[in-house]
Amino acid sequence: MPALTRPAKLAAAAAAGLLISSAIAYGTASGQEQTLREAAAQSDRFAGLGATATGLSETYPEIAATEFSSITPGNEMKWESVEPTQGQFNWGPADEMVEFAEANDQQVHGHTLVWHSQLPDWIENGQYEGELADVMTEHIATEAGRYAGRIDRWDVVNEPLNEDGTLRDSVFLQEIGESYIADAFRAADAADPDAKLYVNDYNTDGLGAKSDGMYELVSSLLEQGVPIDGVGFQSHLIVGQVPDSMQENLQRFVDLGLEVAVTELDVRIEMPADEAELAQQTEDYASVANVCLAVDGCTGVTVWGVSDGDSWIPPTFPGWGAPLLWDENYEKKDAYFSFRDALAGTA
Ligand code: XIL
Repeated sequence: MPALTRPAKLAAAAAAGLLISSAIAYGTASGQEQTLREAAAQSDRFAGLGATATGLSETYPEIAATEFSSITPGNEMKWESVEPTQGQFNWGPADEMVEFAEANDQQVHGHTLVWHSQLPDWIENGQYEGELADVMTEHIATEAGRYAGRIDRWDVVNEPLNEDGTLRDSVFLQEIGESYIADAFRAADAADPDAKLYVNDYNTDGLGAKSDGMYELVSSLLEQGVPIDGVGFQSHLIVGQVPDSMQENLQRFVDLGLEVAVTELDVRIEMPADEAELAQQTEDYASVANVCLAVDGCTGVTVWGVSDGDSWIPPTFPGWGAPLLWDENYEKKDAYFSFRDALAGTA
């Protein structure tokens, strides 16, 4: 189906009695060059972007709209962002991002309902009314309920594991116990039965102790009848280190009856990046796309940002950078083309 023009969309929304959003719809790319979203569609995958609200409204709206078929809010749906004070919600930036995605025929990957990081102070300091189990399920009911029917995938629980595959000693594990994960999925399912519910983590991309832990965790959830649909692999990778076992690893989760996705891909290089490293990165992006295409049940690949200039990597990993598909001047890197062609299945 061709993308609707903005007036057509507005008319359709008005006819359906929907709230008219102010988000802008961008047309499809006009050049002959295939976009990432077109390439991914050829193999029935999504090409996703971990974005910011400012990115979508100011920095890279056109790239986000034309190149990607899924949007993950990078920070705007996290607990500290939406509920800075218990029971008081700030939905503005998250709403804008969902509206942007809808205006541009994009999926939304909700990120994230329960995570040990970027929590509001009132949780960190234990200054909440009631039991944490109830506070958590209430938060999930409110957030997943607000966006019910509009989210394709939710990262219900993010980063629950230690490097050795045991459960991370988060405030949720401490206060609620192991059942917090099952409780969170049940609450999300009740609030939004249509969304695919994911658990998401990093350093679980290849076979190893941590992904074994993930395998045990989701196997146990499935045995308990917990409504879980998928496993997200963040894939914050180091150049030259796409795990050889990544395909085998993703496949074993699909064999359990789950879907999988690469949810936050970036490939960092120790700065300054030389030609050889950039060439390796070009290969690495293609390798990850090839893994997703080789695994039936891999729904798509999300990259964690547009340009090397606004990635989370340099501030978080000092000395590292250049991890994305566009350079600091928003010029496509070689990695963009290798990733695109691999996503299309033509590489
Ligand atoms: C990062 C964001 O990109 C940054 O802007 C923020 O300062 C910290 O979090 N794993 C995740 C993401 O699940 O939410 C993180 O995003 C990156 C690591």
